[in-house]
Amino acid sequence: MDYLTLEGGVKMPMVGYGVFQVDAKETERCVSDALAVGYRAIDTAQAYYNEEGVGAAVAKSGIPRDEIFLTTKVWISNAGDKKAAASIDESLRKLGTDYIDLLLIHQHYGDYYGTWRAMEDALKAGKVRAIGLSNFDPARITDLMLSNTVKPAMLQVQANVFTQQNALQTFCDSVSIPITAWSPLAQSVDGFFTNPTLVSIAEAHGKTVAQVALRWLLQRGIAVIPKSTHRARMEENFQLFDFTLSEDDMKAIAGLNRTDAGTVPFDDPKFIKWLIETYS
Ligand SMILES: NC(=O)c1ccc[n+]([C@@H]2O[C@H](COP(=O)([O-])OP(=O)(O)OC[C@H]3O[C@@H](n4cnc5c(N)ncnc54)[C@H](OP(=O)(O)O)[C@@H]3O)[C@@H](O)[C@H]2O)c1
Repeated sequence: MDYLTLEGGVKMPMVGYGVFQVDAKETERCVSDALAVGYRAIDTAQAYYNEEGVGAAVAKSGIPRDEIFLTTKVWISNAGDKKAAASIDESLRKLGTDYIDLLLIHQHYGDYYGTWRAMEDALKAGKVRAIGLSNFDPARITDLMLSNTVKPAMLQVQANVFTQQNALQTFCDSVSIPITAWSPLAQSVDGFFTNPTLVSIAEAHGKTVAQVALRWLLQRGIAVIPKSTHRARMEENFQLFDFTLSEDDMKAIAGLNRTDAGTVPFDDPKFIKWLIETYS
């Protein structure tokens, strides 16, 4: 396993297991399978409604807590210092732990400055080991960094072969904020698994399209958190360190970029209105 070193010296595995859209009833089984396969980083969120399943699997695994890296995210309905602080305690309770390894602001809506202050307090209190952001753009990251004391330890964004985030990575490199890719398998849409470039590179290495796409992100220095409810796929998505993509492979995949900065309309007023009206 390769690791990223976050602010404060916190070590994070570069391959984790994500549980977005994993049904609450299935989560304990899925996370137990992922831990048995060898994953030691689990990515959940308040908005996934499955933190309890993650906590139950961790508790039953018998794996020492300090060998597992838990990430969760404060949802927009908990924005603001008081609500965010209470939600952090609630996440700790649901996860059955007394600390979260990495806590992120899920999306930049509502009083997310208040949320950040609550996260800074939680960091000082030892309730979290590192704090960071998700779905923020360079302008918002810069503003937040200049207006607060703790630097974000991580940026989690949509990143995959079709949404490469090259501009964002250049910015993040300039301020030394590491990136984690969400939807690293493009949620298996858009002809992802049949893409001829990926298929031919996969065949040349005796690997699968999923492994090539994940390895491509790792070789760019980006952590990955693929989701699958199938144990065989969890195993496949974890076997990423027994091959290396060549420079030509890397360049060929770079040519697949479609929407560099992602497909979610985070700055569209209609999207923002829908999100806030739905979740507040
Ligand atoms: N911060 C954010 O706003 C945000 C947003 C989205 C996601 N995330 C995080 O990122 C994680 C991953 O993203 P994601 O769940 O959106 O999508 P993803 O990991 O890119 O793709 C998951 C899809 O690919 C399928 N799949 C997985 N491995 C496969 C394989 N080896 N072969 C064939 N199909 C495979 C899964 O199906 P099966 O389950 O049926 O195998 C599922 O349909 C999430 O679980 C979550 O933790 C964060």
